[in-house]
Amino acid sequence: MSSAGHLYLHTPFCGSRCGYCAFTVEVGVLDRRDAYTDALLAELAVEGERMGTLRTIYVGGGTPSLMGPERIARLLDALRPRCADDVEISMEANPETVDERSLAAYREAGITRVSLGVQSFQAGMLRVLDRQAGPEQAVAAVDAARGAGFESISVDLMFGVPGQTDELLDADLARALEMGVDHISWYELEIKPRTALERAGAALPDEDWAADAYERIVGSLEGAGYRWYETANFARPGHECRHSLGYWSADDYVGLGVGAVSTVNGRRWRNHAGVDAYIGTLSSGVPPTRSVEHLDEPTRRRERWMLALRRDEPMDMRWAGPPDHPEALERLVEGGLIDVDADHIALTRRGRFVQNAILRQLMEYA
Ligand SMILES: C[S@@+](CC[C@H](N)C(=O)[O-])C[C@H]1O[C@@H](n2cnc3c(N)ncnc32)[C@H](O)[C@@H]1O
Ligand code: SF4
Repeated sequence: MSSAGHLYLHTPFCGSRCGYCAFTVEVGVLDRRDAYTDALLAELAVEGERMGTLRTIYVGGGTPSLMGPERIARLLDALRPRCADDVEISMEANPETVDERSLAAYREAGITRVSLGVQSFQAGMLRVLDRQAGPEQAVAAVDAARGAGFESISVDLMFGVPGQTDELLDADLARALEMGVDHISWYELEIKPRTALERAGAALPDEDWAADAYERIVGSLEGAGYRWYETANFARPGHECRHSLGYWSADDYVGLGVGAVSTVNGRRWRNHAGVDAYIGTLSSGVPPTRSVEHLDEPTRRRERWMLALRRDEPMDMRWAGPPDHPEALERLVEGGLIDVDADHIALTRRGRFVQNAILRQLMEYA
């Protein structure tokens, strides 16, 4: 039996819900933060045995930076005996919720890597997304993280936002490069069900524009020395997110908190949403309500393919298992979309831009 070396902690609190967001989030319940911290510690006590030495911890949300440094320190103090010496501890932060002082306190508490949710440096785009921070706050947050001594700073950005033009995207690219951060996650906006953007019938830019935009982003960031190490992620050498690399390598992980997902030894469980129910159950020492799924070998094999082909490194097919349609390999090699040697497969640069289409040819997905 293996035990997980990666831990995800979910903090569900937000000041407001952004128009595109479908994450497990609650607004207007900040008064539950202490009880929620107690509940996370109680879940940790229940689930601790599933964890081995922790190599990475990721504090995500929601808005972890609404927890405040003291509560984050309580959590990390409890986790410290379980951590490897070189543990990576990332935390997401929203620009309007941090300054140099609070960021220094998070660093003091043990956070080694901060990921700022910028989304765009353009005021109009931020309004479309219902973001609370304006462009100046985003820039100030990056400066504050640097001032606080963080050696690994990441920003999240988005493309394909309704109304985004070439000029607006270029302005974001120029600003992102000027900021010189260590890591950038640049996601294509998805309109998720039951979000304000969906209800408003927001129209995404057309597919050709989005494909061009993606190529421009990749080209510009690579040109500036970032490694395109995963579909939507770029890092200066040595600043790759080790926690995310764990997911893309299909490593086991434990997730604590409302809505958090864990996968250990082929068993996947998902805590139900609902902050009050989560706090209530754990205060009586009972694990939170969850749904459990047993992953059979074909499912795990398909997940390994889906995750590992997102990376820029070749995937070992002895580890991943065979594709469902091996006959497609030759056709894809001839088309210049993949490279295959005896045991390894990698997408070519061209292939990486059409990764989903390649996967659909090789694997059966429900
Ligand atoms: C867990 S979320 C939110 C973290 C933090 N609260 C924030 O808003 O910055 C992490 C990232 O996922 C991305 N994201 C969230 N919803 C998305 C969507 N519908 N489409 C594309 N990216 C999305 C955003 O870039 C966001 O910063
Ligand atoms: S995008 Fe971030 S800040 Fe906005 S609602 Fe979602 S988790 Fe909260």
